[in-house]
Amino acid sequence: MFITFEGPEGSGKSTQLPQLARFLEESGLSVVKTREPGGTKIGDQIREVLIRMDNTELHPRTEILLFLAARAQLVEELIIPSLQQGKIILCDRYGDSTLAYQGYGHGLDLEILRAMLQFATGGLKPDLTILLDVDIMTGLKRKKIKEEWNRLDAFELSFHERVREGYQILAAQEPERWKIVDAKQEPDQVQKEIRALVMDALDKNRI
Ligand code: TYD
Repeated sequence: MFITFEGPEGSGKSTQLPQLARFLEESGLSVVKTREPGGTKIGDQIREVLIRMDNTELHPRTEILLFLAARAQLVEELIIPSLQQGKIILCDRYGDSTLAYQGYGHGLDLEILRAMLQFATGGLKPDLTILLDVDIMTGLKRKKIKEEWNRLDAFELSFHERVREGYQILAAQEPERWKIVDAKQEPDQVQKEIRALVMDALDKNRI
């Protein structure tokens, strides 16, 4: 089963995902945890180019191709083999990040992006996508407090607003796949809701 986590900056994915992974492992399930961009040796090298603060001249088209290159590698090297072994894959960001950030955020053509995603992933879609939704100011403040500020966070506020709205549109278009969690809540409550959604999806998957 392939589960992805999406959300704007500071939505808490990197806190919630390891906790969920531990919980599933303790329940006896076999879990693979990964993230985008990155997740493979090649993907991590691409990630460096994408997040470096001084890479300000990176063109939006170059940026997309790098995200997609990292994703293609991740799908082939890790996700498909893990799925074949019957594992649960928890992925911090995936194709929907490209639609939300490059599409809704930067205004690139969504249909072209969808075609490029199809090429990069071979059409592999998540079984479940959890959107950790949080308002922009709360999210960015959380990130700044953690001092995890990078090139991609430094866009103007309206960019991050468009990303958040983009996620909501995407979720509404495919309500079967997407589940939304209010990530402004206490972390323990967010974790509780994520676990319930994942266990429910696993149960349905077994039937
Ligand atoms: P990261 O430090 O991993 O941030 P986060 O913890 O919020 O996931 O950086 C990933 C950044 O890359 C984040 O700003 C979102 C952006 N991104 C895209 O713009 N497009 C994409 O396709 C992906 C996967 C990420």
